[in-house]
Amino acid sequence: MRKKEPIHPDKNEILILKKEKTLIVGSGAREHALSRSIFKSGHSQELFCVGSNYNPGITSLCSDFIIDDINNTKTVASYAKQIGCSLAIIGPENPLGEGVSDALSSLGIRVVGPTKSLAQIETSKSFARNLLAEYNIEGNPTYRTFNSMNGVRRCLDMFGNDFVVKYDGLAGGKGVRVSGEHFKSKEEAILHCQTLVSMGSEFVIEEKLIGEEFSLMSFCDGNTLRHMPAVQDHKRAYENDTGPNTGGMGTYSDRDHSLPFLNQEDIEKAQMINEKTAEALKHKFRQNYKGILYGGFMCTSNGIKLIEYNARFGDPEAMNVLSILDSDLVEIFSAITTEKLHQVDVRFLNKATVCKYAVPKGYPASPLKGKKIDVSSVVDPDGLFFASVDTKNRTLIETGSRTVAFVGIANSITEAEKIAESEICRVQGPLFHRKDIGTKKLVQKRIKNMESLR
Ligand code: GLY
Repeated sequence: MRKKEPIHPDKNEILILKKEKTLIVGSGAREHALSRSIFKSGHSQELFCVGSNYNPGITSLCSDFIIDDINNTKTVASYAKQIGCSLAIIGPENPLGEGVSDALSSLGIRVVGPTKSLAQIETSKSFARNLLAEYNIEGNPTYRTFNSMNGVRRCLDMFGNDFVVKYDGLAGGKGVRVSGEHFKSKEEAILHCQTLVSMGSEFVIEEKLIGEEFSLMSFCDGNTLRHMPAVQDHKRAYENDTGPNTGGMGTYSDRDHSLPFLNQEDIEKAQMINEKTAEALKHKFRQNYKGILYGGFMCTSNGIKLIEYNARFGDPEAMNVLSILDSDLVEIFSAITTEKLHQVDVRFLNKATVCKYAVPKGYPASPLKGKKIDVSSVVDPDGLFFASVDTKNRTLIETGSRTVAFVGIANSITEAEKIAESEICRVQGPLFHRKDIGTKKLVQKRIKNMESLR
């Protein structure tokens, strides 16, 4: 891969330090993608990582890599101080929720990743809903927030058969329960709410959104947003969207940076919601949101609705968008931290992408762990991203979660799918993946679904 030229080589307003030490927090495929893009930057970077597993992809790009508790603000701050980094990128949501960004900022480190207060946009579902309501931002479904059983039955009666119960905090993708999928009856939902109340948890009950989901992520410095291509993730473990929910089995994006079931107005609406939300956060906290604002949207018969916000890059979405980023990521990150994003032209190649994850047999409920995997037959290592992988006696082993991802890049989703499919099939081990993601058949199903709803 070629090293890219800075976008504004003649401008000196954007603060870029030569041989800057950059810390990556997190060690999944998203962080591998981030590390690779930073490594390819035209600006000289020395990379460090604090992670939860020795991701071989990240290790090979770093000067130093430690395994530690990435959610412990003191541990991460102490490592950052020891290595003397000036820039830090926080990959996952839990460190953001624990205030790792605040801890690093207090050391004078420039951080890509919002403070604990601003990260509430992801860490509290009621906070996100209330913010949109308070600032009259479009996209909220009808919702109510609860911390007791008072009014729960009445609320469920109001929604009839279509409702969602969301645990208020972070739950690794397991906090959302949907009628007709997780609940067979209203009584089951009431029992779940009682469990949440007995745990002292807050929760949101909201209208079930029907339509097609998509992710719209934006680089954000608190004032300016630069939007990324829209991506569709596939949460269910098995083909035809069946089986348990996962962190995401694979994603695709079209060469026009949209999705075949969306129109320009849909994209603009989602972008506008991200812009208004960043503005509302700034107004509420008198602080700039510096990082990635990731809106999870549903395209419905009633327009674009917000499912939830995330305060970070999506995984696998990061692999789709970073694989076709045609601007320098270090320059973008520097501009985010110095509130100069308006000076940066963020470009993406006009290419379609399909990302497929290989996961251990039994994932997500009872995944195999510690089994050998072999990626040596993969033809294009630039498209391969390591996730829940470690090394033992110089062999690669999977560690029980999403294992490796491959991103196919081409002029159409169909071609990109063929590349991703043939490459992910070359990864050997007791793994499985979804063959249907990005296929013509599945994409057509999405288009037909949206046509019937509009
Ligand atoms: N792709 C889902 C997530 O990152 O949360």
